[in-house]
Amino acid sequence: MKVLVTGGTGYIGSHTCIQMIASGVTPVILDNLYNSKALVLDRIEEVTGTRPEFYQGDIRDSAILETIFAQHRIDAVIHFAGLKAVGESVEKPLMYYENNVAGTLNLVQAMERAGVTRLIFSSSATVYGDPASVPIRENFPTSATNPYGRSKLMVEECLSDFHKANPEWSITLLRYFNPVGAHKSGRLGEDPQGIPNNLLPFVAQVAVGRREKLGVFGNDYPTPDGTGVRDYIHVVDLADGHLAALNKVSQKAGLHIFNLGTGHGNSVLEMVAAFEQAAQKPIPYQILPRRPGDIAECWADPSYAEQQLGWKAQRSLQEMVEDTWRWQEMNPQGYQD
Ligand code: NAD
Ligand code: UFG
Repeated sequence: MKVLVTGGTGYIGSHTCIQMIASGVTPVILDNLYNSKALVLDRIEEVTGTRPEFYQGDIRDSAILETIFAQHRIDAVIHFAGLKAVGESVEKPLMYYENNVAGTLNLVQAMERAGVTRLIFSSSATVYGDPASVPIRENFPTSATNPYGRSKLMVEECLSDFHKANPEWSITLLRYFNPVGAHKSGRLGEDPQGIPNNLLPFVAQVAVGRREKLGVFGNDYPTPDGTGVRDYIHVVDLADGHLAALNKVSQKAGLHIFNLGTGHGNSVLEMVAAFEQAAQKPIPYQILPRRPGDIAECWADPSYAEQQLGWKAQRSLQEMVEDTWRWQEMNPQGYQD
């Protein structure tokens, strides 16, 4: 099976390509390298022995999509390419709608022309907004609190309408909870540019000495220790979830929606304590005011994915923090030649 992987040199895409290669699926990557480096291809080759075919280009460019579909018999598309920084999306909403929404529409149109009718889309738990209760099931109401989240929701809605008109397509929306961790080799991981927006990359940069201390955004939430609770999932488990979707549902016509999470929530302070244990050093932190737009608790009910895909997250919190630390310690400045 050959799969076009948009955004395949990014954090989740690169780990998914590794799991694909290991199970005999051939990835063809399209990425504009806006938020990733070509060096990732060397690292994928190093750990798998296979260098994925790579096109440097943009999902908004119809010509490159046509070239790829003409040069390869693509069976399915896994669509990771997108912008994901919530704060930036508030500052530059049009950039987010243009890239994430218009980019996806362009991709689907190119698929339609090429007769490729199987799509797996990277959605997010952010589409649940501030959920009325946890754990979150797939049939919970959706809403958005910022342009990034709205771009994901818009894409979900566009794809759902498109599917109604084209019921022979297989479209899978995977709603990720909080991906963390890195490849066991320590050669691939998350490499945010600038100040990390997300908790674990920030903690890892404090541990490695790139930042002085963590700011904990609020300790007055209605949670056991007052800090925010999230469903952290190892990126390799998440990658395996894509393979399960590819093998189990992407052959079947339909609009398929799955939560990819562990079903467990951990607080910010629990994550800090787990990381301190892995790195064997203290992580200095300071309590700051709540971050606007944050919610108290967000964790998945992943039972539908288990039932339908035969997939369940396997890796423990300890593995998530140990693997993150190995990657950060071996690559203190991220991907560098
Ligand atoms: P990432 O930034 O590491 O990877 C995205 C990749 O897409 C990057 O390599 C970037 O260069 C590429 N890209 C962006 N716009 C493009 C375009 N127009 N054309 C071609 N390539 C383009 O992010 P990630 O963490 O791997 O996330 C992958 C997907 O999963 C994104 O769509 C993101 O919104 C979604 N997601 C991520 C998280 C998370 O916390 N990491 C959570 C939920 C959903
Ligand atoms: N946090 C801190 N300090 C930091 C960063 C985060 O205390 O420096 C806290 C947050 O307040 C929150 C928790 O750590 O309680 C997790 O925050 P992240 O930014 O790592 O993750 P979020 O759950 O806020 O959001 C992430 C992605 C979104 C995505 C969402 C659901 O950034 O894009 O998960 O998938 F939509």
